[in-house]
Amino acid sequence: MEPLLSYEERGPADADAVLLLHGFPLHRGMWTAVAEALAAAGHRVILPDLRGHGDSAASEDGSMTAMAEDVLALAHHLGLQRFVLGGFSMGGYVALEVARRAPQRLRGLVLVDTRTGADDEAARRGRKDTAAMVRREGMRALADAMLPKLLAKRHLEQHPDLVAAVRAMILENPVDGAVAALSGMAVRRDQADTLKAYGGPVLVLVGKEDTITPVEEAESMVATAERAGLEVIEGAAHLVPLERAPECAAAVAQWLTAVPEAATRTA
Ligand code: MLT
Repeated sequence: MEPLLSYEERGPADADAVLLLHGFPLHRGMWTAVAEALAAAGHRVILPDLRGHGDSAASEDGSMTAMAEDVLALAHHLGLQRFVLGGFSMGGYVALEVARRAPQRLRGLVLVDTRTGADDEAARRGRKDTAAMVRREGMRALADAMLPKLLAKRHLEQHPDLVAAVRAMILENPVDGAVAALSGMAVRRDQADTLKAYGGPVLVLVGKEDTITPVEEAESMVATAERAGLEVIEGAAHLVPLERAPECAAAVAQWLTAVPEAATRTA
């Protein structure tokens, strides 16, 4: 059995749980500000580090299916029968895989700056090249390549603290974890059918200036899901939970008020 994911919790332990999954090549720290705001609003927030990221050990298997199994194992460990699951970008790919495997466990899904589609051939080749670069040059090269795409131009130019915080987060991840996640994302399945079949409430959130998973991807997910709402956040690119944490938390908190409570809180 794989070791349990490293995680942290915020908010009251007896409230309904909200699990938030980070993106690539980041870790649970990307959700801290949003989690603090949700905890202050009375929610129990659980932030895992996905395998190969932050404090969770890397494995050669960085597939979305393995990561989804890890999340379900953590939910089991915490005694959560039903929970809200949110995922940012790669975390969204994992959240959709959890929805495919165990939709009955989810009270709702929050999909932040992500997509249902799988990689095409060009994207797969790009992942391979990126993995080779990370092996050769390390996480610093990955940070240099990704930062300009993660943050809005204005934030890159005027918020050196934010840029430094994101860079530090990327550098806190091991090369092996990043390489495994790149291979895992390259072979992930298309989850449009999963989202279509999932009948629970869905919130889709996207930064207006996101170029990695643009607004059209978000609109397409809203059209695919049975019961989805859309929030487009102004003044943010891909990294909405860090670029616009208060707006992101407010949108999630507002949506949570309409999500039915878990009938039973523990398994
Ligand atoms: C992420 O932010 O998690 C990644 O950019 C997702 C991806 O590379 O597909």
